[in-house]
Amino acid sequence: MSSLKVENLTVSIENKVVLRDVSFELQRGEILSIMGPNGSGKTSLALTIMGHPRYRVISGRILIDEEDITNLPPDERSLRGLFLAFQNPVEVRGIRLSTLIFSALNKRRGEKNLLKSDPQIIPLLMKNLRDVGLSNEHLQREVNLGFSGGEKKRSELLQALMLKPKFLILDEPDSGLDVDGIKITAEKIKELASQGTGIIIITHYARLLKYLSPREIIVIRDGKIVTRGGSELSYLIEEKGYEALNGDLNA
Ligand SMILES: Nc1ncnc2c1ncn2[C@@H]1O[C@H](COP(=O)(O)OP(=O)(O)OP(=O)(O)O)[C@@H](O)[C@H]1O
Ligand SMILES: [Mg+2]
Repeated sequence: MSSLKVENLTVSIENKVVLRDVSFELQRGEILSIMGPNGSGKTSLALTIMGHPRYRVISGRILIDEEDITNLPPDERSLRGLFLAFQNPVEVRGIRLSTLIFSALNKRRGEKNLLKSDPQIIPLLMKNLRDVGLSNEHLQREVNLGFSGGEKKRSELLQALMLKPKFLILDEPDSGLDVDGIKITAEKIKELASQGTGIIIITHYARLLKYLSPREIIVIRDGKIVTRGGSELSYLIEEKGYEALNGDLNA
């Protein structure tokens, strides 16, 4: 069974422990959500799974399809089908968005020039571009340079749609998006999941999850998983805040 597994992960950055004994499993086609207060370790978890070099895995393992990827560099992880849409997408000077997308696709598919070998690729790109609400002009611009907050999120979504990763981590895909953007993002996440992508959504809000009904919501606090449950958790948190979970925690 194809899965992403995080086993007893304890992680530090700058000698500060940011994740403690975190475990979960995600199958392809499933949606999982991670919630938790600011600074609880959500982005650290996403970056550790991607192999960001500043995070040190003290103990535990990350596996894709039973292969231990804990010590692989980020590009090897992406070749195995992982993609992270960043909370704060980075600006890449000197590289057009179209170039970034095609070079990632060529690498993933082991092709020299997809533009020649796959006649469907341009129509697909144009469709996805339209669907996420960006224009041809964005494709020709340097990656994220001068993009608005919402445009950056849409550009990350576009890359995910083109790459169709096995496992996709979306770090606050709903932050900075307008209402239409949130609907589109939810629809596209559903589409990817139905095509077999396993998806982790990091979010502070129930509004995206309402459309998606994730299999599980995991709440982390101070780097530890403190509660796991169904969609009802996101409503409880939105309505009452994380303090509302205290009863649960002390029980
Ligand atoms: N380079 C660093 N040096 C020191 N501490 C760091 C560093 N990077 C992250 N941290 C700390 O790790 C903790 C977890 O941060 P993280 O970004 O994972 O939180 P988060 O759950 O994503 O929060 P938010 O909801 O605000 O995005 C925070 O206390 C943060 O200050
Ligand atoms: Mg974060």
